[in-house]
Amino acid sequence: MSRTVIRGGLVITASDEMHADVLIEDGRVVALAATGTPTAESWTAERTIDAAGKYVIPGGVDAHTHMELPFGGTFASDTFETGTRAAAWGGTTTIVDFAVQSVGHSLREGLDAWNAKADGQCAIDYAFHMIVSDVNQDTLKEMDLLVEEGVTSFKQFMAYPGVFYSDDGQILRAMQRSAENGGLIMMHAENGIAIDVLVEQALARGETDPRFHGEVRKALLEAEATHRAIKLAQVAGAPLYVVHVSAQEAVAELARARDEGLNVFGETCPQYLFLSTDNLAEPDFEGSKYVCSTPLRPQEHQAALWRGLRTNDLQVVSTDHCPFCFVGQKELGRGDFSKIPNGLPGVENRMDLLHQAVVDGHLSRRRWIEIACATPARMFGLYPKKGTIAPGADADIVIYDPHAEQVMSVETHHMNVDYSAYEGKRVTGRVETVLSRGEMVITDREFTGRAGHGVYTPRSTCQYLL
Ligand code: URP
Ligand code: ZN
Ligand code: ZN
Ligand code: ZN
Repeated sequence: MSRTVIRGGLVITASDEMHADVLIEDGRVVALAATGTPTAESWTAERTIDAAGKYVIPGGVDAHTHMELPFGGTFASDTFETGTRAAAWGGTTTIVDFAVQSVGHSLREGLDAWNAKADGQCAIDYAFHMIVSDVNQDTLKEMDLLVEEGVTSFKQFMAYPGVFYSDDGQILRAMQRSAENGGLIMMHAENGIAIDVLVEQALARGETDPRFHGEVRKALLEAEATHRAIKLAQVAGAPLYVVHVSAQEAVAELARARDEGLNVFGETCPQYLFLSTDNLAEPDFEGSKYVCSTPLRPQEHQAALWRGLRTNDLQVVSTDHCPFCFVGQKELGRGDFSKIPNGLPGVENRMDLLHQAVVDGHLSRRRWIEIACATPARMFGLYPKKGTIAPGADADIVIYDPHAEQVMSVETHHMNVDYSAYEGKRVTGRVETVLSRGEMVITDREFTGRAGHGVYTPRSTCQYLL
């Protein structure tokens, strides 16, 4: 039996803040006791971690990553090995990545392929959602089996015709199935059919620069798709989780649905909270570094996203980490923005950026933990194993220095990508030490973990329904 005690820190969960010591045995939290009390003082352990002056927080749960995703003729540049190591550096101890069903193939084949990519590679624990690109009778039956096995959420796309796209009928069928089997449909809500027309027209006018990616993927077309997804889910009697919400009009659709009492949830990402179309407009093709879908929006949308996070119309902040190098990958779209691979790096930056939001007064400390750890764990059936610090939980714990200053940069990050979306951004707060199931994976800002420590973690169904 191995025992560790974390002493003297401020333990923060979604519900509480307390100066407490944390006792860990064999990879799990066994007890918390107020610092200095006889109970805490009586604990002996092989290893003591001094957390005085630091926060002791649950490891981050990033419910939206795409390691090695095939996209636009290339692959996202982080492997499961490099991407999960970077996640650990950034205080994230669980990722839920997306296995992909390609058209003409089964869900099982996609899941097997993604399991093979991740197996033995990960520094932290991982799970999978399933991207459903080909809804047919076999797929619908397979969804039931996957839910039973612990793949309890399915992403569908209203965008990307000819690739991941599902039409309304396919979406309705998958939603009807998930209403029965307990699965959660995650929706990429953009009207891809209309967007493709606008892309064609823009290119015909010679509008080829990255900034036009933001212009053709209109906020109204995100709002329209969000509204349609909500109505389809309502007809099916199914819950709905809308991924990577960026437009204020889409937040309004979610808020209205929730006011009606529907089980409708929304996720946003740090890039929509901290970046804008100003970045997409950077000259010399630099804007390509900020091409993702849904796209970055004009700055004024950010206030609606922050408000949504405070009012719980948005419940989760995930990264949608999907990095492509500038050299050789983003450059595929020189002369045609529609060929720029979509996605931004960020798995290492999320916990810090959201802590900066605490410093800036957008969020309370407990809300920080709620949107980054606890709610993603509950939404995707990982709670209370993940997402909190409580007896019985996995000892996935971050010792966080709330006073350290850092400057985000490609020079210092650990993601396998040749730029930082936040280059030069100063933030207050930094991960110091990270435990994954009681093992030190980051120790005083040194990587002490290993590929293969992280294990596949099956999930129960959504624990967040109204
Ligand atoms: O641009 C993005 N978001 N790339 C990843 C794929 C997706 O749609 O989430
Ligand atoms: Zn096949
Ligand atoms: Zn998407
Ligand atoms: Zn994504």
